[in-house]
Amino acid sequence: MADLPNIHVPSLIARKRDGSPLLAEEIATLMSGFTEGSVPDYQMAAFAMAVYFQGLDDNETAALTSAIIASGKQFQYPTGHPRVVDKHSTGGIGDKVSLALAPLLACDDLWVPMVSGRGLGITGGTLDKLESIPGFNVNVKMDQAIAQLERIGVVMMGQTAEFCPADKKLYALRDVTATVPSIPLIVASIMGKKLAETLDALVLDVKFGSGAFMQNEADARKLADAMIATGERHGVKTTAILTPMSEPLGHAVGNALEVDEAVETLHGRGPADLRKLTLDLAEAVANVKRPQLEQWLDDGTAFAKWQEMVTTQGGDPTASGKLATNIHPAPVIRDVLAKASGTVTAVDAKQIGQASLELGAGRATSDTTINPAVGFDQLVKSSTDVQARDVIARIHAANDSSADVAEAALRSAIVIR
Ligand code: URA
Repeated sequence: MADLPNIHVPSLIARKRDGSPLLAEEIATLMSGFTEGSVPDYQMAAFAMAVYFQGLDDNETAALTSAIIASGKQFQYPTGHPRVVDKHSTGGIGDKVSLALAPLLACDDLWVPMVSGRGLGITGGTLDKLESIPGFNVNVKMDQAIAQLERIGVVMMGQTAEFCPADKKLYALRDVTATVPSIPLIVASIMGKKLAETLDALVLDVKFGSGAFMQNEADARKLADAMIATGERHGVKTTAILTPMSEPLGHAVGNALEVDEAVETLHGRGPADLRKLTLDLAEAVANVKRPQLEQWLDDGTAFAKWQEMVTTQGGDPTASGKLATNIHPAPVIRDVLAKASGTVTAVDAKQIGQASLELGAGRATSDTTINPAVGFDQLVKSSTDVQARDVIARIHAANDSSADVAEAALRSAIVIR
């Protein structure tokens, strides 16, 4: 049992359990005790469960967010730096927007310090996708990141030990105590990491639907409003876009496959839904209007910025756009053909995400190794009219038996009537 200056942890847990609000200083002391080890995991787990049932009000959520930010180092920029912006997505199947968005925003007079995560749950995270580029280094220290921003305006990196350690510790505990799906804990976790980037503006992409954390739009709105309130309280202009995640974004799901699709978008091509969402999110934080952003995608400026970033972070720029074909070709590539003519009425994101996880594109536990080669491309979109024997998806698998499992899952996920 830990007794910290001014707080008695069991009493504090009991007050939260019974629905009383806590003071900001109490939350700050509890979190610093947890970070440095004097508050043990079992007390923090009980606290997280009390929060799960009783929630936190705006003041408490802001205090927890501040405690997460204060637990590590924050980005500090030289005076006179350009506006610093970022986006956060609550995550969805085939969501590779960050890969196109970060270099696009860096074409503007902006700095984009994008600290991303690895996937746990269904598909790979942004870092997993980037690591399918040979040599690409996501382990960038904060001072290196700032030097890179000064040179090229963009860095895509992982969360280092010096960055929000309280969140890393708390998230690991929540993951094993059934306390991840709590709006105030999610808000503090996400916003703590984003606000530690010391941003001027943040745009949130809050997904809802079968392939998302939030299953319906009303819950996504609640999460978005809570994140906006926390961002604004910390002085960061925060906006949110709510986007459906009932079907995968774009036509590709899987690590190398998604990077190739993002590169298509950076060439001004790529799927319409991916381009639109990239532009919608970019417009929310950019200095310039949409036509200029479109032009940077279409005239090669955004792709050139991507290549600059890949090269700066040790990646092989000659691999861009060719990962699935040249660098990580899957041993089995199989077309899935429509059995009958009709209209596609559903392409279920959750089932497709689950199928990609089973192929090896995602991580069931934190120590699973991701296979960059596997996944799907050429996924049909809903409302498309198809003829019997048209390709409705292509499977990239490690072997025939996993391709068989994936094909059965795709046939259940893609409904043609
Ligand atoms: N992503 C995070 O970073 N934290 C959460 O709590 C949930 C999703």
